[in-house]
Amino acid sequence: MKKFFSVADVDNLGTVVEEALAIKAAPYAEEQLGKHKTLGLVFLNPSLRTRLSTQKAAMNLGMQVMVMNMDKDGWALETQDGVVMNGTTVEHIREAAAVMGEYCDILGLRSFPSLKDKEADYTEDLFNKFVKFCGVPVVSLESATRHPLQSLTDLITITEHKRVDRPKVVLAWAPHVKALPQAVPNSFSEWMCQAQKEGLVDFTIAHPMGYELSKEFTPGAQISNNLEEALQGADFVYVKNWSSFVDYGAVYPVAQNWMMDNEKLKLTNDAKVMHCLPVRRDLELSSEILDGPNSLVIKEASNRVWAAQVVLKRMLEDLR
Ligand code: CP
Repeated sequence: MKKFFSVADVDNLGTVVEEALAIKAAPYAEEQLGKHKTLGLVFLNPSLRTRLSTQKAAMNLGMQVMVMNMDKDGWALETQDGVVMNGTTVEHIREAAAVMGEYCDILGLRSFPSLKDKEADYTEDLFNKFVKFCGVPVVSLESATRHPLQSLTDLITITEHKRVDRPKVVLAWAPHVKALPQAVPNSFSEWMCQAQKEGLVDFTIAHPMGYELSKEFTPGAQISNNLEEALQGADFVYVKNWSSFVDYGAVYPVAQNWMMDNEKLKLTNDAKVMHCLPVRRDLELSSEILDGPNSLVIKEASNRVWAAQVVLKRMLEDLR
C-alpha cells in the first residue's frame, strides 16, 4: 500500500477488517516490522484520537514517530505555484513536503477543508500536492473530503458488534453550532456503500433538506429526509453533523429536533450508537445515550489503533 486516502485503496473490506481484528488480538506480533523506520505525523488542524491512536499503532509495529504541528510550529505554507512569495507565506509545499519525505519512511497528513473554496477542497489540492512532493507513502489523517482511518475503524466496530449478518446502518445528521466539513460523513458513506455492495450492511442516510452529500460518496445508499422513518429497525445509528455541500459550507436552521436521544432510540432495533468524536453533548447526541448501554463511542475510539495499525503494517510490508 502506497497511499491510504479512500476506500479505493483497499481491495476487500472483509479481509482488511479480519486483518485488523487479528492485530487487535495480537498487537505486538509484528513489532520488528517497523524497526529503524520513521513515521512523520503532520497536523494542519487539531486532533486527539487520530494523533494518539496512529502514534500507538506505529509504536506497536516498532516504528519511531515524529509529530509536527504544522499549524502552530511550522512555517506558513504556500500551496500555489507561480506566486511571488512576498506576503505571509514563508515556505512552499514543494520544499516542505520534500524535506519531510527525506526524514520519514511514511508520512501522515491532516488537512481540513476551507469550506470556502469548494473546487480546491473537493479536488484535494493540498493533499495531492503533499503526496506528489514528499515522495514516500502517505496515510490520510483526515483530508478535505474524507477520513478513511475513521471509516475503517467504524467498519471494524460494526463488524465486532453486529447481531445479524447484514445489519441496517443509519447515518443520521445531527445539529451543531458551527459549520463542519463533510469529510467524516462522506467517508463513512463511501465505506458503507462499498460494504453494502459486498453484502456486509444495508445503508441509509437521514438528513434535513439542504444537507445532501455529494452523490460521488453515496452510490446505492437509501436517502431520507425523515429521521423517524429512517431509524425504523436500525441496528447501528452513526450520528454526525455536517454543513451543506450544495450551498458550500452553509448552515440552515432546522425546525425539527434531529438530536439523537432515548426516545428516538425506541424506533430502532435497540441500535448501537456511534460517533467519531469529539461530540457536543446534548446538542448532537444526548448524554443519556452517551452514558448508556447503547453507546459505542469509546469502543469505536479504541479501535482507531487497529485501523491505523493494519494500514501502517501494509505500508511497511510494501517498503521491503
Ligand atoms: N475522530 C477523530 O478523528 O478525532 P480527532 O479529531 O480528535 O483526531
